[in-house]
Amino acid sequence: MELEDFLKTKGTDENLTQLIMLFSKQATAIKAGFLSARGAADTKNVYGETQMALDKRADEILIAALKESKLVSWIATEEQPDIIEVKGAVNPFGITIDPLDGSSLIDVNLAVGTIVGIYPGHVLEPGNTMLGALYILYGPLTTLTYTTTGSGVHEFVMGEDGNFTLMQENLTIPEGKLYAPGALRKDYLPYHKKFIEQLESEGYKLRFSGSFVADVHQILHKGGMFTYPAFVGKENGKLRLLFEGTPMGKVVTEAGGAVSNGTINLLDVKPAAVSDRTPIYIGGRKEIALIESIKRS
Ligand code: AHG
Ligand code: MN
Ligand code: MN
Repeated sequence: MELEDFLKTKGTDENLTQLIMLFSKQATAIKAGFLSARGAADTKNVYGETQMALDKRADEILIAALKESKLVSWIATEEQPDIIEVKGAVNPFGITIDPLDGSSLIDVNLAVGTIVGIYPGHVLEPGNTMLGALYILYGPLTTLTYTTTGSGVHEFVMGEDGNFTLMQENLTIPEGKLYAPGALRKDYLPYHKKFIEQLESEGYKLRFSGSFVADVHQILHKGGMFTYPAFVGKENGKLRLLFEGTPMGKVVTEAGGAVSNGTINLLDVKPAAVSDRTPIYIGGRKEIALIESIKRS
């Protein structure tokens, strides 16, 4: 079944349906950039990170499509210093976008993706208010995984015509023993070290590619957990709450998993600024409960 028909069958809100379809339709243009826009751009983003040409290309494609559609009132992206307000939008939605996640892997042809969070209004609200979230993964296949609150998590694959058809509906995260630990071991904080050592003693296998979206996608399918923790020198961690943590947290939570900053559910955190960073633990409920209990003790 095609994505649009599936959304209708599920009784998805018409505005949300249009929005999810809009993102699906930009995948072809973003993918074309892997051939034509490889390499670094000469600019840095607000985090001081060198932008890749495709970071900027994907950002431009998505912002232009959203502005033209007037489907959202607020657009926040990892590549823009300020939240964009769309005047005359048809509804009050706010959107967060990591246009290209894992962009250091573009030049080595590993899987990267686009991550989107959808809010009923402004985006500086806790993730538990989100209407839904989605990500597009550009791997050997291009897939789109989405959730809207309470409707499950569903995965689609892009065909040669650029349309997405259903691959798997009602995804749930299984029990599994993969772990994807970011940061350097020498910088681990004591509670984190204890957590990682416990997973290792239980036989968890290492999987960490440098692309958060691809690593979490693997965990969603095979079980286990991903973390980019707080560490010595970066007590707020590396990943961004709005662009990475909450949207992927929303997907994994709707699939029966959990997401935490080590202390509380990440979806309960109210952002102070669009650029907030956060420690992140995401994956199976068992693993997320374990880190929270180790950190508390
Ligand atoms: P982005 O490409 O959007 O800047 O995000 C990169 C992130 C994330 O995808 C990944 O998990 C992490 O950075 C990898 O960081 P390290 O290179 O420090 O391992
Ligand atoms: Mn990212
Ligand atoms: Mn990015």
